[in-house]
Amino acid sequence: MLVFKTKKELSDHISTLPKINNLGLVPTMGALHTGHTSLVQKAINENQTVVVSIFVNPTQFDNKEDLAKYPDTFDADLNLLSSISEDILIFSPSADEVYNHEIKAKKYNFEGLDTVMEGAFRDDHFNGVGTIVEALLLLVKPDRAYFGEKDFQQLQIIRKLVKQQNIPVEIIGCPIVRETNGLAMSSRNERLSKQLRQKASFIYHTLLSAKEKFGTENANYVIDWVKEQFNEQEDLELEYIEITDVDTLSPITRKNEKLKYRAFIAVYADGVRLIDNIAL
Ligand code: PAF
Repeated sequence: MLVFKTKKELSDHISTLPKINNLGLVPTMGALHTGHTSLVQKAINENQTVVVSIFVNPTQFDNKEDLAKYPDTFDADLNLLSSISEDILIFSPSADEVYNHEIKAKKYNFEGLDTVMEGAFRDDHFNGVGTIVEALLLLVKPDRAYFGEKDFQQLQIIRKLVKQQNIPVEIIGCPIVRETNGLAMSSRNERLSKQLRQKASFIYHTLLSAKEKFGTENANYVIDWVKEQFNEQEDLELEYIEITDVDTLSPITRKNEKLKYRAFIAVYADGVRLIDNIAL
C-alpha cells in the first residue's frame, strides 16, 4: 500500500494514473472502524482508484482537550485498510504540510447550515471542516467523495461547499453503521466504559421511538418526550434534540407532507460527546 506524506508526492502519483480512471476519496481522521471501512468498500466498488486521507484536522476542534484525546491508531488503520485492498492510496500529511505552516481555517458562508446544532455548540467547527475538505478535494480532484450520514449536518455543508466553490465532484452520503446494540459507530466509543457503551445504545432506541411518535404527534411533543426520557438517565446528558428539514436544517415549524425531516441528537456520556440522527 502506498503512503504519501506530502501533497506533491500524492499529486505526482495521481498524475501518472490513466486518464479514464475514476477516482474516489474517503477523507478520515483515522481511528478507523467499520463505519469508515463501509465508506472505503463503497468507494472501491465504484472507482478504479481510491485515496483514503488520514489527518486529524486541528482547525475543526474548538476544544483542545478533545483534539489532544483524539486517538492515534495509525498502524492499526493501515493494517485495516490493507486487509481491504493493497491498492488503496493513503494520504497522511502533517498539519504544517496541509496548511503551509499557517494552521488557520477559512471563513465560509454556509447560509445558516452551520449555525444550528453542531455549529451552535462547536465554535468554528464547520469552517475547519470546510477548509480541510476543500483542500483535499482540490488536491486529489476525485470524481466522488464519501462521507457518513452520522455527521449528516457535515454532509449537507460539504454539498453546499462544492456547489459554492464549483468543485466538480459527486458527494456520496453513506448510511450510519451501528454497533450490535444500535449505538452509532464512532471513534469516540472507544473512550466509553463497557457498561456505558452498552447504556449509550439508549440514544438510538430513543430516536427509533421518536420516529414512531413523529408519525402521529407534532414535533414539539416528540422533542419534549425525548427530553423527558433523558431526564431520567443518570449517565447520559442530553445536549440537544432537534427535528429539522433535511435540506435547510432549519427547525421544523409545522409538518409539511412535501418535506423530509430528520431528528438530530447530541449526548454526553461521562464527558464523551456522542451524536446520532435518524430520518423521520
Ligand atoms: O468526518 C470526519 O472524520 C472529518 O470531519 C473529516 C470529513 C475527515 C474532515 O476532517
